[in-house]
Amino acid sequence: PTVIYELSDGSVHEIDVPAGQSVMDGSVRNNLPGIVAECGGSCSCATCHVFLDEGDSGRFDAPSDEERDLLEFAEGAQPNSRLSCQLIVGAGCPAVRVVVPDTNG
Ligand code: FES
Repeated sequence: PTVIYELSDGSVHEIDVPAGQSVMDGSVRNNLPGIVAECGGSCSCATCHVFLDEGDSGRFDAPSDEERDLLEFAEGAQPNSRLSCQLIVGAGCPAVRVVVPDTNG
């Protein structure tokens, strides 16, 4: 499935992310800046914060309590904030769009 990453410099990157991998994986594997992912995806750092396009929220599991707690520490968090390591791309999922802030580092 395609994940569209909108970076803070205005660039847009369409990446094919294999089903079962996270939105964070797709960014890190392609060396995109913005998603730092200090903890490597174990939901304990909040440096993989992204804004998920409202229309795409139903394509992913709702955030866990752990994720919600961590998001409170993410700079500029909004109602559509998610930790991208917790957004697992499903097979056959239509393209998903996320906005990557530059405040993850
Ligand atoms: Fe650390 Fe997502 S990579 S919380």
